[in-house]
Amino acid sequence: MSRPALPIRIGVLGAAAIARDFIKGSAPSKLLRVTAVASRTADKAAAFARDTGIERTFASYAAMLADPDIDAVYNPLPNGLHAEWSIRALDARKHVLCEKPLAASEAEAKAMFAAAQRNGVHLVEAYPYLAQSMTLEVRKLVNTGVIGKPQLIRASFGIPFSDPNNIRLIADLAGGAVMDVGSYATSFIRVMANERPRRVHAVAQWGATGVDRTVAGTFEFPSGLLAQVGASFATGYHRHGQVAGDAGCIDTMFLNHPPIGGPAAFQLRRGTMGVTPIETIPVAVGNGFLAEAESFANLVSSGDLAAWTGATAQESIDIAAMLEALIKSARQGTAVDI
Ligand SMILES: NC(=O)c1ccc[n+]([C@@H]2O[C@H](COP(=O)([O-])OP(=O)(O)OC[C@H]3O[C@@H](n4cnc5c(N)ncnc54)[C@H](OP(=O)(O)O)[C@@H]3O)[C@@H](O)[C@H]2O)c1
Repeated sequence: MSRPALPIRIGVLGAAAIARDFIKGSAPSKLLRVTAVASRTADKAAAFARDTGIERTFASYAAMLADPDIDAVYNPLPNGLHAEWSIRALDARKHVLCEKPLAASEAEAKAMFAAAQRNGVHLVEAYPYLAQSMTLEVRKLVNTGVIGKPQLIRASFGIPFSDPNNIRLIADLAGGAVMDVGSYATSFIRVMANERPRRVHAVAQWGATGVDRTVAGTFEFPSGLLAQVGASFATGYHRHGQVAGDAGCIDTMFLNHPPIGGPAAFQLRRGTMGVTPIETIPVAVGNGFLAEAESFANLVSSGDLAAWTGATAQESIDIAAMLEALIKSARQGTAVDI
C-alpha cells in the first residue's frame, strides 16, 4: 500500500466550480496541499491556478496523472466521468477522493474499488456532511440504540435548478436530481440504516433535458426498516433527515458546512410519546471540506481505515446501487430489486 508522507500533495482533475470551494475550505490544513490542477485547456488551468494560488498546471488530465509529485487526486468531474477518471488515477497509483455520487451505477462503483485494490491505493467518496461532528454524533446515538431500533428513515434534499447547460441537467453526464441532491439523501439513509436495502419503488417528474427533476422513492430493508427519499431541482432549498426508532426520534439537517444565520444543532426525542420533550443538541460545525480533506489525508498517510469518517467501500457501492435503482424504478414504473 502506498503511504505518502504528510502533507499529502493533491492534484485536481478539472477546473470545476466546486474545486474552488474545496481548495479554499481545505487551505488551513497542515495535512495536505493542493499543488496542481489539470484542465482540458491550458488557459483554463492557468486562470484557475491564478485565482486559487495553485503552483502547478497541466493541460490534460493524463499529464497530471503521470506526474510522480502528485500523491492523490481530487475528482470533481461531471458524474458521468467519475468512474473513468478515478480508475485512470487509481491505475496511476494515486489515492482518489472522488466527488459524490461516486459512480453512475453499481457496476461502475465496483470497478472503481477493484482498481483501488489492485493498485494498493485508497478510493473514497466525498460527502462533507459525513465528516461533520453533527453527523458523527447522530450516527453514534443511532448506533448505540438511544432511539431504539430504526423503523422509518426519511431524507430529502431540494434546490431550484433550471440552467439546461449545467452538468446537472445533462443526461449523458449522469445528471438529474437523484444523482445530485438525491445522492446526499440516499447516502444519509444508507449510513443510518446500517444495511443495504433489498428493493425500491420510485416515482419521478421528468425535466425537458431528459433527466429526473423531482423523485420520491421508498426503500425496503431486510430488517423490516422502511425509508423514504426525496430529491428535487424544482423546490426551494430544503435539507432534512429523520431517523425514527421504536424508542425515539432524531431530526437533522446533516449539514456540509456551518448553517447561515444560526447555531448548528439537531433535535432528539428520547421516548415514544408526543409529550416527551424534544432536546436540541448543539454541535460544532466547521468547514466540511476541511474536515473531509483531513480525514482523507489521515487515511492515505496512515493506511488506517478508521481514519476515514465517510462512507466505507461497501456503503459507497450500496449508495450507487440505490441511486441506479431509484432511476430505473421511476423509469419503469415498477419496484426494482437492489
Ligand atoms: N460535495 C459537494 O458539496 C459538491 C457540491 C457541488 C458539486 N459537487 C460535485 O462535484 C462535481 C462537479 O460539480 P461542479 O458544479 O463543480 O461542476 P462544473 O463547475 O461544471 O465543473 C466540472 C468540470 O469538469 C470538467 N469537464 C470534463 N468534461 C466535461 C464535460 N463534458 N462537460 C462539462 N465539464 C467537463 C471541466 O473542467 P475542465 O474544462 O477544466 O477540464 C469542468 O470545469 C459533480 O460530481 C457534483 O456532484 C459536490
